[in-house]
Amino acid sequence: MRLQLFFIFPILAVMAACNSLVPSATPTLTPLESQGRRVLESYCSRCHGTTGDTVIVGPSLAGIATRGRERIQGMDAEEYIRNSIEDPTAYTVQGFSEGLMPLDLKDQLSEEELEALVAYLLTLK
Ligand code: HEC
Repeated sequence: MRLQLFFIFPILAVMAACNSLVPSATPTLTPLESQGRRVLESYCSRCHGTTGDTVIVGPSLAGIATRGRERIQGMDAEEYIRNSIEDPTAYTVQGFSEGLMPLDLKDQLSEEELEALVAYLLTLK
């Protein structure tokens, strides 16, 4: 009996430790938001990361739902995000060159894809 506990306890301890290393529950996305994440992977991920400060070609979009409302006076985050896609030259993020973001994204995306993309980006708080 003692011997069994001797083996089982370390295993349980390791399992508990691993469990706390796994980032607790990634927020569940609605179907629309999940679709938006896939749109982002197809159209935006080659230039934009979504975690931390990772710079690929453009800035990380982590926190864009919060930062977005401070970019252009009078625009909330949703309007700013939509505007960034539809009219990328309207605002240039400091430290980045203008004109790198494709101008024709709005033609490449269907209205539904754009809705989904904006919904997903609004989860990046
Ligand atoms: C070829 C590279 C490239 C692609 C593809 C691209 N972007 Fe960008 N994007 C940039 C660069 C560079 C900037 C920073 C310069 C600027 O503001 O124009 C930027 C800026 C942005 C900003 C403003 C970020 C901020 O902090 O204010 C948003 C939002 C954005 N992009 C969203 C998107 C979305 C959504 C897509 C996909 C539909 C996309 N971008 C595709 C290069 C790209």
